[in-house]
Amino acid sequence: MKLQNVGILGVGSALPTKIVTNFDLEKIVNTSDEWIRTRTGISERRIVAGSQTTSDLAAEAARAAVEAAGCTIAEIDLILVATISPDTIMPSTACFVQEKLGAKNAAAFDLSAGCTGFVYGLAVGCSFVRSGMYKRVLVIGAEVMSKFLDWTDRNTCVLFGDGAGAVLLGPAEEPGFLSFKLHADGSMGDLLITPAGGARLPASKETVAARQHYIKMVSGNETFKFAVRVMGEVVQQALDEAGLVKEELDFLIPHQANLRIIEAARKRFNLPPDRVVVNINRYGNMSAASIPVALDEAVKNGRIKRGHLLGFVGFGAGLTWGAVIMRY
Ligand code: UT7
Repeated sequence: MKLQNVGILGVGSALPTKIVTNFDLEKIVNTSDEWIRTRTGISERRIVAGSQTTSDLAAEAARAAVEAAGCTIAEIDLILVATISPDTIMPSTACFVQEKLGAKNAAAFDLSAGCTGFVYGLAVGCSFVRSGMYKRVLVIGAEVMSKFLDWTDRNTCVLFGDGAGAVLLGPAEEPGFLSFKLHADGSMGDLLITPAGGARLPASKETVAARQHYIKMVSGNETFKFAVRVMGEVVQQALDEAGLVKEELDFLIPHQANLRIIEAARKRFNLPPDRVVVNINRYGNMSAASIPVALDEAVKNGRIKRGHLLGFVGFGAGLTWGAVIMRY
């Protein structure tokens, strides 16, 4: 069977308008702008207002991606939302997005792979188009982390932000996606976890009192070291699979968890700073939304152009990690 070439037809993103600076956080937890900036590279993040939710941001990013692609909502065959901050445990956020878009012809489901969600999502979405099963697949990374954060826990609340990014995948003349490398190690699942609210620890007065419905990070430092190691490794694996070398990469778009992680991976990988896309200073860690938002900004400001060779690399809860090499 001949496999279909797949490309990104359009990109879009959506960010809440409310900006929360490190100085704002100094007023609510025992932290400082200096600590947050030097340890993470974050200066500010966006936080949703009122009842705005993950599917709202996802739908806005998706509309922008469909418009950028010059397609119609009716043409969408599948909506895939990568998120760890869904509107509800059931049904999927993707179904709420389908309803908000009015995408009557689309199937819809969520994908949970932590901060690697968008990278996993690209692999899944691409497979549907490549096989010929679907023609137009929306892959969305969307998070409203602010509603899952313990705003009394300085270890986590300073790190994350809200946002959404989306790509519309479809058939292409030339091969767009060249290789995927996805990994997981469930033995480290408890390092980054929302402990309660699932079947393991159903909601109760005790779980609420113990603040177990919020995101917990057991050893940030361990995740840090792990991330530095695997990011370089997995990009190399994906390049090898595509039969390319790192010098050919025009841009690396890494998950934005910590500027020091990005820098360490960049140096280990020997790439000049202008070939790595960074926006963590303005948005913090938006989990599955970090990479598509960075992509959208770099496309909009003209840095990334058609024909560029791109590497996406992510890591996060699971633990999961993965990389994609593509010709944009
Ligand atoms: O997207 C994937 C998910 N998450 C990650 O990738 C996180 C990866 N890890 C990291 O980014 C870093 O490990 C952190 C930013 C979380 C922490 O930086 P670190 O350099 O690894 O610091 P640390 O964990 O070794 O902690 C240093 C100190 C501790 O105090 P003591 O025990 O040394 O007295 C913390 O209590 O910093 C303290 N600390 C803070 N101080 C001020 C932790 N959070 C804060 C804070 N403000 N917000």
